[in-house]
Amino acid sequence: MASWSRALLSTSLVLLACGDDKGGSTTAASTDAATSDATTAGSTGDVPTTGASTGAAAGRPNWHEDIAPLVATNCLSCHAAGGIAPFSMETYALASPWAPVMADDVDAGTMPPWHALETDLCAPPHPFKHDARLTADEQQLFRAWADAGAPEGDPALAAPLPDPQSLDLPNPTKTVAMSSSLTIDGVGSTRDFFHCISLDPANAETVYLDGVQVVPGNRKIVHHVLIYADPTGASAGWQGGVKQNCGGGSGIQAETQLIGGWVPGGMPMEAPKDVATELPPGTRLILNVHYHATGGGPETDDGTGLALRWSTTKPAWGTLFALIGAPGVGKSLTGPLMVPAGEKDHVEDYEFTVSMNGQSFPDALDVRLWSLTNHMHKVGVDMRAWVVDRDTGAETCLIQTPRWDFNWQRSYAYDTPITSSVRVRYGDKLRIRCIYDNTLDNPGVVEALAEVGLDAPIDVQLGEATLDEMCLLGVGVAIKGL
Ligand code: HEC
Repeated sequence: MASWSRALLSTSLVLLACGDDKGGSTTAASTDAATSDATTAGSTGDVPTTGASTGAAAGRPNWHEDIAPLVATNCLSCHAAGGIAPFSMETYALASPWAPVMADDVDAGTMPPWHALETDLCAPPHPFKHDARLTADEQQLFRAWADAGAPEGDPALAAPLPDPQSLDLPNPTKTVAMSSSLTIDGVGSTRDFFHCISLDPANAETVYLDGVQVVPGNRKIVHHVLIYADPTGASAGWQGGVKQNCGGGSGIQAETQLIGGWVPGGMPMEAPKDVATELPPGTRLILNVHYHATGGGPETDDGTGLALRWSTTKPAWGTLFALIGAPGVGKSLTGPLMVPAGEKDHVEDYEFTVSMNGQSFPDALDVRLWSLTNHMHKVGVDMRAWVVDRDTGAETCLIQTPRWDFNWQRSYAYDTPITSSVRVRYGDKLRIRCIYDNTLDNPGVVEALAEVGLDAPIDVQLGEATLDEMCLLGVGVAIKGL
């Protein structure tokens, strides 16, 4: 595996990843809000009110027969006590005051959150797994319920409630967590810390990892996480399993392979059937954790770790994760990333010519792309990735996130067997286009400027700081026989 891992799509995987230091992160904000809103919904000035009608006389749609099952399936994974959303919809009393806002957000497509959309420019070749979008009929039910004054209906007629979609990795083989704790303290403008944590999966034989979930120990401060395999076990020597201030990478000189990542709102990563990452015994896993201090004094994380699912049977396909664009592999077609102050619709283009460390590989080798993660910061508004066939020039759009929202980043995996997923050959081109709006019309810009005490846009370049940008595509690549 090692040689391929190093080779494919080359690997100067110098990832600073999002390096964002803005905003205390959605998770932090939402966690705070969750407690207060969930317990006070319906009684605070912030909460919308409706003239809710109750009782068996209410018509359809009503809560018990129509809305509760929809909410259970589509909303409760986040909108429950302790979830990442700011209020709970677990009961009629908690949910009904929100009915008009629920209908608005559902109509607007902002809830449930889902950002990989079909557009005139992009029709991905396969649907994505876990597509959260509601059907038009379901949207209409929310609207009709709100318009009718959010009737409760008769509990005796309540429809059976499906289990909410779990955000946890199904059937993990093992969970591993950090063995010591880390405390951060944001002083002045220094809010961001990159610490590396070495974890020992302690597999006695070679195993094949097909599911990984990052379990943040303290959601308020864990901003994003990158996961590296450390095949030589070099990180085993870190005192307490931690290397503080390890920068943007794995924190060791020895060869490592990026195998995944996590941002708030992200789902566990599950490889398609017959696809897995090989983990020889002695391999350690390194988490590069970007902590963002909320500014409220010292904050501690004593539990960040991973849930892992593996088998001992080698699957037909191996997989790795490649980063393309800025800061990744490939070349810029538009010069160094630079978004001038005040510019709308600013375009940055990147191109990566598919190769193995710059070398060719035979067409017979079956190489597929199965997951995609777009990444920009807060000036970005739209991102698209596509493949250009080396012979015909035909274009296959992989993904577009035309309403980019920094707070909702996730990996999108095609819902199709690996053998029918997008294939690339040596010489095909992967193209990425990022569009930015560096004006005050962009709420992300307003937010990012406010955090550093500015009120007018400034020139934005590649980097990790609040007002820096990226144009980065993470790609899950499967190789047959790897
Ligand atoms: C993956 C998690 C997730 C799911 C699933 C989800 N929400 Fe949310 N929701 C959030 C978070 C986080 C927020 C607050 C931050 C934001 O608005 O992005 C929120 C905010 C809201 C708000 C408040 C917006 C405002 O203007 O104050 C409404 C209304 C809402 N969600 C409705 C829904 C409905 C209805 C569903 C199901 C059909 C749903 N959500 C599913 C996470 C989720």
